[in-house]
Amino acid sequence: MIDTPLEQQPERQLDHRYDAFVKVTGRAKYAAEFPVKNVAYAYIVQATIPAGTVAAIDDAAATRASGVHSILTPFNAPKLAELGNVNVLQDTTVYYSGQPIAVVVARSLPEARSAAALLHITYKEQPAKLDFEGLLKDARPPKRGGTSRRGDPDASLAKAAATIEQTYSTPVQNHNPMEPHATIAAWDGDKLNVYDATQGITSVQQGLARAFSIPQTNVHVECPYTGGGFGCKGYVWSHTILAAMAAKVAQRPVKLVLDRDQMFGPVGSRPNTRQHIKLAASSDGKLLLQQHDSTCYTSFISDWVESAANPTTLLYDSESLSVSHLVVPLNLGMGTWMRAPGEATNSVALEIAFDELAEKLNIDPIQLRLANYAEKDPRNGKPWSSKHLREAYAQAAERFGWSKRNTQPGQLREGNKLIGHGMATANYGAGRSPSSAIVRILPNGRLFVGIGTQDLGTGTYTILAQAAALAFSIDPSLVDVKLGDTNLPRSGGSGGSTTAASVCPAVYEAASQAKLKLAQLAVADTQSPLHGATAEDLDAKDGKLFLKSAPDKSETITALIARNGGTPVEATATSELAKDRDSFTSHSWGAVFAEVAVDADTHMVHVRRVVATYDIGTLLNDKTGINQLTGGIVWGISMALHEQALIDKKYGRTVNENFAEYHVPVNADVGEIDVTCLNIPDYRFNPLGARGIGEIGITGTAAAIANAIYNATGKRVRDLPITLDKLMTA
Ligand code: MOS
Repeated sequence: MIDTPLEQQPERQLDHRYDAFVKVTGRAKYAAEFPVKNVAYAYIVQATIPAGTVAAIDDAAATRASGVHSILTPFNAPKLAELGNVNVLQDTTVYYSGQPIAVVVARSLPEARSAAALLHITYKEQPAKLDFEGLLKDARPPKRGGTSRRGDPDASLAKAAATIEQTYSTPVQNHNPMEPHATIAAWDGDKLNVYDATQGITSVQQGLARAFSIPQTNVHVECPYTGGGFGCKGYVWSHTILAAMAAKVAQRPVKLVLDRDQMFGPVGSRPNTRQHIKLAASSDGKLLLQQHDSTCYTSFISDWVESAANPTTLLYDSESLSVSHLVVPLNLGMGTWMRAPGEATNSVALEIAFDELAEKLNIDPIQLRLANYAEKDPRNGKPWSSKHLREAYAQAAERFGWSKRNTQPGQLREGNKLIGHGMATANYGAGRSPSSAIVRILPNGRLFVGIGTQDLGTGTYTILAQAAALAFSIDPSLVDVKLGDTNLPRSGGSGGSTTAASVCPAVYEAASQAKLKLAQLAVADTQSPLHGATAEDLDAKDGKLFLKSAPDKSETITALIARNGGTPVEATATSELAKDRDSFTSHSWGAVFAEVAVDADTHMVHVRRVVATYDIGTLLNDKTGINQLTGGIVWGISMALHEQALIDKKYGRTVNENFAEYHVPVNADVGEIDVTCLNIPDYRFNPLGARGIGEIGITGTAAAIANAIYNATGKRVRDLPITLDKLMTA
């Protein structure tokens, strides 16, 4: 039985985020904030060498230290059954500097931390592989996938009027949501209760069940709020399993929160890329060949690939195509999904390359893209379920004032500022997963929605309330939503921009079924004015059921329920994927334009304006949707100008593992951002016509900025981020 939350939020208003009030007032509880009796604190001890083995851990002094309950090491940790690719003290191998190699459990966090410093750890070191450039010669194909070919590349190249061939590179990045990873684990016999900061409560439940060989139903995971995910909270990392292991050993609940510096390594990264691109075109700009070969680092733990070349297979038409990936194994933490994995890095290289080709052909960059517009999915000839990229180019160009731009690089000056304009295409796939939800009509007329999804801070609560409200034609403030609990009907992970497209149809369907049940109650009730009608002929609006053909015939939902036992009416439903989904491709598109001002003396770049228009199907909510896209653009600015993990080639440590030195944009770095959506529904994709929007905002943005910098300065920097030193020497 799922409880209906008693606490209602009358402060909520239609134009606000569902969770705005609880967040602004500090009432929203994140994983680490749940009060758990007798909780102990765990602190992860990390390897200080990049490769080798842990030879010994002398814990005598640490064990005697104040407040210490337990110390877990590879030499005493319980053996677990099945693991993902994480390091949880099952052996002594060190794959990277920063890898968890021990856990100290103590009465308080300061005690755990200070005891950790007393561990005497000896290693058997081995030579580490850390020099990506130096090891490029050892690059090998990844274990899975990575190549694609169409047409005859050599024949196409021979016909070309213009070609460009360049190498572009992007650095390692680490996700840093405001809320670091955190887990509280508590055992009750062989039942495990967990609060976890996650993008997927069900995958945490499954991962823990497998690790500890207990039925999945024995694991209960809660995560009502997630303080940002961006991909790193989409995987079950070592700290979650270690928290549960520590709770078992210490025989008390354990809280484990990662420090900010522990976010750089043990919970994934976006691997660097080195992308080689060759484009060949005829004089009218028609692409003859697209060749895209990308190499990234991978870890020795798992063969993760940043699929930077993949999007080239579908973005533009070309006579021939050749795409490949290689990996260079390094002693670094694992790569993982980071906002638009593949598309974000692809669009940096491909969209700068397009700018270079446009210049060579003396064609407007938009025209070059239009000349190669993919009317169908170039991979398989399937139609798109909906594609309006042309309109996106036109709308964004108009809002930006593209026609007035100066086409000669380095010619537009305002005082000592060089002004430039650039553009790029944005794109991201559209996916859905089956999702179940319960909707309950309460005797007081309010609706309760329960669904085992999670809200990363993006607005999932808000759009779920909207989806249920839509079925009943009521204000969303009359809907209470519970999510982030594995006792609720199962839903998918919040990743790959799939959440909205998965959960909203499920809730809408459950609400529609609950409404039908209510209608059946009314037509069977001799005391109802709707008695004798057909249930399917009824609809709901403003708290009433009414006859569609004669809306004056109606009854309030509260009166109907009161007369019929006063018990809630509820329905659970599962959203189905489109039956004909194999006959088309669903994808989202956008056009991004940027204006930069580059200081001619200091080379400092300021992004004055970004204008973007997206074709993402139905925009479900103006506020949360535009926020999401704007946030993606801010990250694009970060990618273009600021962000990079700097890794020491001798010790394999991230040197700038803090917010002081791992630069992300602050308000002063972000100019005016103008986001619009075409809002053309994609009903072939799902009944609401909405595709996901979590990731597309970052795509294209960095390239639009890089192209604008070139337009401003005449300097082409192909290695991101574009920092002052690179502009100075370019
Ligand atoms: Mo996203 S990188 O699928 O959280």
